[in-house]
Amino acid sequence: MKVPFPANLNLQKKLISPMGKHILITGGTGLVGKHLTSLLLEKGYTVSHLSRKTGNNPKVKTFLWDVAKGSIDADCIIGVDLIVHLAGAGVADKRWTDGRKREIISSRTKSIALIYNLLKQHPHQIKKVVSASATGFYGDCGNELVTETSVPAKDFLGQCCVAWEKAVDEGAALGLEILKLRTGVVLTDEGGALKQLALPIKFGFGTILGSGKQWVPWIHLQDAIDLYVFGIEKELTGVYNMVAPNPATNAKLTITVAKQLNRPLWLPKVPAFALKLALGEMSAVVLASTKVSAAKTEQAGFVFKYPTIKEAIREIYA
Ligand SMILES: NC(=O)c1ccc[n+]([C@@H]2O[C@H](COP(=O)([O-])OP(=O)(O)OC[C@H]3O[C@@H](n4cnc5c(N)ncnc54)[C@H](OP(=O)(O)O)[C@@H]3O)[C@@H](O)[C@H]2O)c1
Repeated sequence: MKVPFPANLNLQKKLISPMGKHILITGGTGLVGKHLTSLLLEKGYTVSHLSRKTGNNPKVKTFLWDVAKGSIDADCIIGVDLIVHLAGAGVADKRWTDGRKREIISSRTKSIALIYNLLKQHPHQIKKVVSASATGFYGDCGNELVTETSVPAKDFLGQCCVAWEKAVDEGAALGLEILKLRTGVVLTDEGGALKQLALPIKFGFGTILGSGKQWVPWIHLQDAIDLYVFGIEKELTGVYNMVAPNPATNAKLTITVAKQLNRPLWLPKVPAFALKLALGEMSAVVLASTKVSAAKTEQAGFVFKYPTIKEAIREIYA
């Protein structure tokens, strides 16, 4: 059989060269997204964002959407090779009312569905979707080491992750490759859980939450960004845990931060019941014990720059 010679060599080159790839990021203005954007631009990718607000980075074209209203700028998919889906209402930003819970889920599920609807209606060259998911998938598992094949939790976060991953998986029916990265607590002093944990420690009011024995699945921000790029550049599909290979307990994490900041931890532990009273159902975010395996991620060839909590915290607060 005669193989037709590509009519447009430049287009062919663009499709197969990683340096020419165009990546559309949803939620690209967030904690992970802004650093991923910088690294991808540095590596020579073209990056555009889907956002709720106009962007201010001259190197990034921003397309607008309103997930709740179901509106999206259809031009956002033009020339795009791969989508990174990070958008989602902050899980620990506001109290979990029924309305907030719906927003946490729909900002992750309806958002990707909006994009898939566009792909059904317009010609495109998108091959792959790399999506965030979360280790909240596994819920409170005590000391059990959970892997990508473990069952999801029945609680709100577990079911949110199930719905999120299911919505992302709909892309397979459109011929897309799907990669989901179940992310643990991303450690950086710029925001997120570590900033909140470290603030009272800096003022000498640091304390361990609950028993302190609960396992915290964590990853240094740099490793999280590098793992996204690894997932973009390698033939990786399915689910991978985005956590460092050495999980730490809440006590170990808190003590390591206090030591690095040279501050005492003199207050008594905050009992679990007090956290449940103050935070309601959302207390699961700090009280659940989730010991997550990074074995599959390491077997795929990913090498962590910060494999232990000591190395990660030392780098962050050095
Ligand atoms: N950071 C962590 O520790 C961690 C842990 C586990 C999982 N994850 C997941 O990884 C992803 C990225 O994390 P991140 O820390 O970078 O999150 P982030 O800082 O909260 O950013 C998420 C982005 O999503 C967009 N967004 C927020 N509310 C939205 C809504 N109601 N509808 C549509 N878009 C909305 C925003 O972008 P615009 O303002 O530009 O629209 C925001 O910048 C998230 O899905 C998060 O759940 C993060």
